[in-house]
Amino acid sequence: MNYQVIVIGSGPGGYVAAIRCAQLGFKTAIIEKYSSLGGTCLNVGCIPSKALLDSSEHFHNATHTFKTHGIDISVPKVNFKQMIARKSDVVSQNTDGIQYLMKKNKIDVFNGLGSFLDSHTVQIVGKETQSISGEKIIIATGSKPATLPFIKVDKKRVITSTEALELKEVPKHLVIIGGGVIGLELGSVYARLGAKVSVVEFLDGIIPNMDKTMSKELQKSLKGIGFDFYLSHKVTGVAVNGKEVTVTAENKTSETLSLKGDYCLVSIGRKAYTDGLGLDKIGVILDDRGRVAVDQHLKTNLDHIWAIGDVVKGAMLAHKAEEEGVFVAEQMVGQQPHIHYNLIPGVVYTWPEVASVGATEAELIQEKRSIKIGKFPYKALGRARASMDTEGLVKIIADAITDEILGIHIIGARAADMIAAGVTAMEFRASAEDVARMSHAHPTYMEAVKEACLSATENRPIHM
Ligand code: FAD
Ligand code: NAI
Repeated sequence: MNYQVIVIGSGPGGYVAAIRCAQLGFKTAIIEKYSSLGGTCLNVGCIPSKALLDSSEHFHNATHTFKTHGIDISVPKVNFKQMIARKSDVVSQNTDGIQYLMKKNKIDVFNGLGSFLDSHTVQIVGKETQSISGEKIIIATGSKPATLPFIKVDKKRVITSTEALELKEVPKHLVIIGGGVIGLELGSVYARLGAKVSVVEFLDGIIPNMDKTMSKELQKSLKGIGFDFYLSHKVTGVAVNGKEVTVTAENKTSETLSLKGDYCLVSIGRKAYTDGLGLDKIGVILDDRGRVAVDQHLKTNLDHIWAIGDVVKGAMLAHKAEEEGVFVAEQMVGQQPHIHYNLIPGVVYTWPEVASVGATEAELIQEKRSIKIGKFPYKALGRARASMDTEGLVKIIADAITDEILGIHIIGARAADMIAAGVTAMEFRASAEDVARMSHAHPTYMEAVKEACLSATENRPIHM
C-alpha cells in the first residue's frame, strides 16, 4: 500500500499530525504498536492521572471541607477498585474517541510495531506482518520512563507512573524518587487517599523548571496534606525485601537517609523512545540524549522524514507534541506555520494547581533583563474565600521599561484553566497595564491576574 504520509505513533503528536495531514488532503496512515490509540497521554499519562487526581480530590474535600461547607455525611471511605475502574473507563472513552477521529478523517490505522525496511517503507509487525510505503514519514514514537542504572524497576514494588495508575491498593508509605511533575501529581493522589508520601529530590527545590516562588508555595501546600520532602538528596540504592522497599540516599554532607515504604515510585524524567524503529538502518541521526535530531522545521537529516513530540528536544508535553504535529503537516503543503516555544504553558495538576507561561524570574535575572514583579494572593479574592480555596497567588513579571509581560506564574485553584488567558495576552505581546485595564468578571479567580498586573504596572492593586 502506498501513502502520501505515514505517521508512526498515535500519541497527541502522532494522531494530531495524522488528522491535520488528512485535513490537508494527504492519503494518510498511522501505525500504533498497542491496540489502543492515544499514546502515553491518553493511556498511561495525562488522562488517567487527571482522572485519579479528580477522584482523590473529591475524597479529600469530603473528608476535609464538606463539614465547614455545612454538609454532614457519614465518614467517607475509599473504594479504590471503583476509583481505578472509573479511571479505566475514562481512558477508554478517550481512546475510542481517537479511533472515531481516525475513521472520520479516513486515516488508515495499522496496529503493530513499525520499523523501517528502507527510508520509504515501514514494516508493521502485529497480528500479521505487512509493509506500507510513504512519500513522507512522521516519527512520533514518544517517550518511556527513565530510571537509574542501579535501580531495578520490578513494576510490583518499585514502579513507574504506569504501574502507579493501576495499583491494587493504596500504599501505606509511598517513597517517591524525583520531585517533578509525575512525583507530585501521583504523590498527591495517594496522599489524599491516606498514604504517607516521602519525596527524595536531587535538587534543592521541587518542580525545578518552574518559578521558584511556585516551587516554594507548592511545597508548603503539599506538606499540609502530609508530604515529607528530602531535598538535595542523591539516591544511592533501592532494595526490595518482600513487601518492603528501602530507599537510601545521601545529602551534600554525605549524611545517609534510609526510608522504608511499601512502594517506591521512580519519577526522575522520561527518555525518548526509538526502540525497534530501525533508525540506524536508514541513517536517521539521534542527538547526544538519544532523541531524534531535528532542525528548526522538525525535519530529520533525511529530507522526507520529520519527528515530533517527546521523541525530539523540548518540553515533554502533550500540547507541545500537538502543536508540532500541526506544524509539520502544514509545512508539507508549503505553509509557513510557527510555534512560540516560549509560550507553551506548563501545568502541574496538584491542589493547588500550578500553571505558568513565559520566563521565570531566575531566567530573566540570568539574562540580566530589567524586570518588575507584581503579585496578588488568592486570600484577598472574594471568589477564593467563597469557595474556601484561598491558598495561592499570581505572579506577573514584566519588562521594567516597556511593561510587556514576560512571565505569568499562578499557583491556586483553577490555575490550569486560567493560564490560557495568560498565553493569549503574551501571544499578543500585552503589557501588564493592557491586562490591568481590561474588565474581569467579579467574582472570579482571574481577578487575581488583573490585580497582579495592576501591582506590576504601578504598584496599585485595588484589593490589597
Ligand atoms: P506518546 O504519547 O508517548 O505516543 C507515542 C506512541 O508511539 C505510543 O503510543 C507508542 O506505543 C507508539 N510507538 C512507539 N514506537 C512505535 C513503533 N515503533 N511503532 C508503532 N508505534 C510506536 N503532558 C501534558 O501536557 N499534560 C499532562 O497532564 C501530562 N500528564 C502526564 C502524566 C503522566 C503520568 C505521564 C507519564 C505523562 C504526562 N504528560 C502530560 C506527558 C505527555 O503524556 C507526553 O508529553 C505526550 O504523550 C507526548 O506525546 P507523543 O505523541 O510525543 O508521544
Ligand atoms: P520531571 O523532569 O518533571 O522531574 C524529575 C525530577 O526528578 C526533577 O525534579 C529532577 O531533579 C529529579 N531527579 C532526577 N534525577 C534524580 C535522582 N537521581 N534522584 C532524585 N531526584 C532526581 O520528570 P517526571 O516527573 O518523571 O515527568 C516526566 C515528564 O512527563 C515531565 O518532564 C513532564 O513534561 C511530563 N509530565 C507532564 C505533566 C503535566 O504536564 N502536568 C504531568 C506528568 C508528566
